[in-house]
Amino acid sequence: MSFVFAQVQAKDGLRYNSASWLDERRMTYMAIQAPEGTKDLLPDEAAFWAQFKRTAAEVFGRYGYAPIETPVFEQTELFVRGIGEATDVVSKEMFTAISGENLKKLLDGGTVKAKSRLSLRPEGTAGVVRAVVQHDLVPQGAAPVKLMYAGPMFRAERPQKGRQRQFNQVGIECLGAEEPTVDAEAIIMLMQFYEAVGIPHASMRLLVNSMGCDRCRPAYREKVLAYLHEHAEALCDTCLTRAETNPLRAFDCKNPDCAQVMEGAPKITDCLCDECRAHYQAVKELLEAAGVTYVEDPTLVRGLDYYTRTVFEVQVVDGLGSQNAIGGGGRYDKLAEEVGGRPTPGLGFALGYERCVLALQAAGVEFPQATRCEVFVACVDDSVRAEAFSLVQACRDAGLIGEMDHQHRSLKSQFKLADKLGAVVVAVLGPDELAAGQVKVRNMRTHQES
Ligand code: HAM
Repeated sequence: MSFVFAQVQAKDGLRYNSASWLDERRMTYMAIQAPEGTKDLLPDEAAFWAQFKRTAAEVFGRYGYAPIETPVFEQTELFVRGIGEATDVVSKEMFTAISGENLKKLLDGGTVKAKSRLSLRPEGTAGVVRAVVQHDLVPQGAAPVKLMYAGPMFRAERPQKGRQRQFNQVGIECLGAEEPTVDAEAIIMLMQFYEAVGIPHASMRLLVNSMGCDRCRPAYREKVLAYLHEHAEALCDTCLTRAETNPLRAFDCKNPDCAQVMEGAPKITDCLCDECRAHYQAVKELLEAAGVTYVEDPTLVRGLDYYTRTVFEVQVVDGLGSQNAIGGGGRYDKLAEEVGGRPTPGLGFALGYERCVLALQAAGVEFPQATRCEVFVACVDDSVRAEAFSLVQACRDAGLIGEMDHQHRSLKSQFKLADKLGAVVVAVLGPDELAAGQVKVRNMRTHQES
């Protein structure tokens, strides 16, 4: 069974132009490139991604986080309910997956069952919370569950530097506790992770805010809506349209006129209820006690609808342009209920791998080269090939990274290849060495032979 991916174009369905889709299939003889907005991780970068994930497992493991793997696609309904139907991520950017069988049904004018409507995950939180609910990982009265994940996410955004359609995230989710210590612990851990991967502290800025809760946010939302109505003539069409569904999104608008208007908008931090204010205050005090520097940003609203109370984002100060957020997250105390579970508070964050790489490059950090060869076994001539083959295998069995030439190169070319692979030593095997039961070893760093 094959799957076809489509960007959702309408709330409840897919508009397919079957003719143009078939036309594209006739273009099969052109050299095929990776799809727009995707990137191959070639060996050095793939090795760095593997190391990045190991560092995450080490740092987050010290805080009790255990790995979880969830499917890369879920029922579309999960994202609609979890992330919010009015968000850009759900309304414009989701890739919906349709099995070949269901595609045929749609093309024939039929419909598919809600549970067969699938979307590639645009983020990891909704899937993890769905898994926590489905497998009852936080039974009543239990200690919080701490989960971490790493993998590809998919958003049909307009590609640009730091913005891809498939990108990799590392993230954590902690479900089952609403105390501010959970929030502070996660933020401290996030900042430690950046340091562990080598992003200089001075190149980052941590923004924090509180989004309030069910008790205080509705009144705040109304205040912002009234403010938007008052300033309607100065706002862009997108802000005006979104005002009715989610007025707080106007804080994120990149239009300079809107940004100027929003500077004077009511601030959530002036409208928090006593409980939210105390929670926010406690988070900030814990961060200060831990020596974590932060900037309070009452306009930080984030692009996903599930957040309550604490939200945070880490931005790179220079070199990344508009896509400067290298990570972000927050509390989502209502999300488990949204996806059908019992009330279970939660908090998490995710960071973008590709943007972290850009941040490292912008800071001039050198990437460690993965070791590809420790011992290169070179043959003086083809008569010793079989013995060389056994010798390189013996090196590997002894735990060394061993390599040899497979293409009958001259000895000189074998040395060049060994050098290119970064070999530490070259073991030279010829008929004389074989007869003497010895090999000549050249140290490629010092050029000494023994
Ligand atoms: P987010 O802010 O949407 O949050 O994404 C987290 C990070 O993923 C961003 O800060 C950015 O580094 C990276 N990212 C997002 N979109 C792209 C893209 N198109 N191309 C490259 N990198 C991108 C979330 O995803 C939430 N699930 C975080 C969270 C976890 N909140 C609570 N728990």
